[in-house]
Amino acid sequence: MALTGLFLCTFLVGHLAGNLQLVFSTGEEGKRAFNEYAYFMSHNPAIKLLSYVTYISILFHIVDGFMLTIQNKKARPVGYAYNKPGANSSMASRNMAVLGTLILVFLATHMANFWWKAKVSSEKFPLHTYTVYPPMAERPTEMYYTVKGDAIPKEGVIVKEGTKLFIDSKMFEQQIAVMKQMNPGQQLPDMSQMNKNPELGEGYKDLHSLVFAFFGHDKSKQGFPKNDMALAGLIFYVISMLVLGFHLWHGFSSAFQSLGVNHAAYTPWIKKIGYGFAILVPGLFALIPIVIFITK
Ligand code: HEM
Repeated sequence: MALTGLFLCTFLVGHLAGNLQLVFSTGEEGKRAFNEYAYFMSHNPAIKLLSYVTYISILFHIVDGFMLTIQNKKARPVGYAYNKPGANSSMASRNMAVLGTLILVFLATHMANFWWKAKVSSEKFPLHTYTVYPPMAERPTEMYYTVKGDAIPKEGVIVKEGTKLFIDSKMFEQQIAVMKQMNPGQQLPDMSQMNKNPELGEGYKDLHSLVFAFFGHDKSKQGFPKNDMALAGLIFYVISMLVLGFHLWHGFSSAFQSLGVNHAAYTPWIKKIGYGFAILVPGLFALIPIVIFITK
C-alpha cells in the first residue's frame, strides 16, 4: 500500500508537470509542445514501461486498500462504546476507503475521456493541424505537422493506421489529368511510374485539442465536437481534486509510517511536506480545467 502509494505520488508530479503545459504554454507553440510531449510519453520505451508500472501500481493499491478495509472491519465489527473520533484522528484518515473509491470513480471517467480515446479506441482521432495563409492564395491552407517537423497540406492526404499520412493517389491522379487537359504539351509526373501511395510522414495525435474541447465551454476544437457538459466536467474535476487532496493529506505521511520511518526529528517534517503536497498537487491539477474553461 505504502510503496504503491508513494510511486503514484511520483506519477502525479510527472503527470502534473506535463499537463501544466496546457495552461502555461500558449498559442500554436504551446499546442505543438504539448502534442510533442504526449507523443514522446506514448512512444519512448522507458516511459512506456513506466506507464505499465503505473497501471499495475493503481491495481495493487486498489486491491490492497480493499483488503485492508475488510481486515479493519473484521478486527472491530462493533464500534467503540465511547467513540469520539475527531479527538484522535483526522476526518481524512477515517475515510481513506471512501476517498479512494471516489478517486477510482474519477480515474475511470478520466481514462474514458482521455486515455481511451487517445490510445485504445479505434475511432478516428484528429491529428495536429494548423492553418497557414499563403500570400497569393484565395483561402487559408490547413497543414499537418509531422513528427519529423515537416509541414504537409491536409488536402490530398489520407490518414492510415491512426497517424500515418499518405498521398491520396486518386485525387493526385485526378489533378494530373486536369493539368494534362489544361496544358497538353507539359511534362507531368507519370503516375504509373510513381509509387502509388508513398508515405509522407507521421502526424501527431491532437491531445491538446482533445483536452481543450473537453473543458472549453463554447468551442468545438479541430475536429472534436463542442462539449455541452464542460461546466459539469469542470465541477467534477474540481471536486475530485478536493477528494484527492484529502486522500493525500493523510496518505502521504502515513505511507512513510507504514514503511517504518518514524522518527521524532523527521516525522513532523514528513507530515508538513505531505500537507504541502496534498494542497499543491491537487490544487494545480484543478487549476488546469478552471483556466481552460474561463479562457476558451
Ligand atoms: C486536469 C487535470 C488532468 C488533465 C488535463 C489530464 C490529462 C490526461 C491526458 C490527456 C491523458 C492521456 C495521455 C495519453 O494517453 O497519452 C491522461 C492520462 C492519464 N491520467 Fe490524467 N489528467 C489530469 C489529471 C489526472 C489526475 C488527477 C490523475 C490521477 C489521480 C490522472 C491519471 C491519469 C492516468 C493514470 C493516465 C494514464 C497514463 C498513462 O497511460 O501512462 N490524471 N491524463
